[in-house]
Amino acid sequence: MSAGPLRLAVLVSGSGTNLQALLDGVAGGDAPFSVVVVGADRDGTGGAERAEGAGIPTFVCPVADFDARSEWDAALARLLAEHAPDLVVSAGFMKVLGPAVLDAFRVVNTHPALLPSFPGAHGVRDALAHGVRVTGCTCHWVDAGVDTGPIIDQRAVRVEDGDDVGSLHERIKVEERAMLVEVLTALARDRSWR
Ligand code: GRF
Repeated sequence: MSAGPLRLAVLVSGSGTNLQALLDGVAGGDAPFSVVVVGADRDGTGGAERAEGAGIPTFVCPVADFDARSEWDAALARLLAEHAPDLVVSAGFMKVLGPAVLDAFRVVNTHPALLPSFPGAHGVRDALAHGVRVTGCTCHWVDAGVDTGPIIDQRAVRVEDGDDVGSLHERIKVEERAMLVEVLTALARDRSWR
């Protein structure tokens, strides 16, 4: 067992409620992890605002700032490395990570569907459109594919009559936040994955 909390770098693109669940865990005092930096791929995310409110360093690294995707990938890897994270968490980060980041860090992603069904940016919409009665969320290791890496944990959520993408996603996110905190707590307590 390594000394000290597991150092997490969290990547966000949106409102950051998954990040908030981690921050709440840290603020509660008994989480075996800490959030050392929050990175976003665009300005003005709720996630970066939440991080700043908690006094956590942030950075923004937009793909559009670089001539090539590989340059963005390398810049993102450098920005992350400045904070020496033990683990990178993609928590609603809507970009596919490249080899510079994936070679340097272990990365965990959370996805709002039961993988391998409904990968990609529209997992909730696609599951609803398919007519499934049960969907959910998945926490997995990130590899070079899109939502293809080894599954760590999953939670099921029933689709209710009358659900739309918004109502279903909100119920999935309740499970997703709890799952993410539990997965990271387990990964912090048993570091045999390193
Ligand atoms: C989550 O459902 C995540 O899986 C998906 O986008 C949502 C992000 O929510 N990719 P938040 O920004 O953590 O509130």
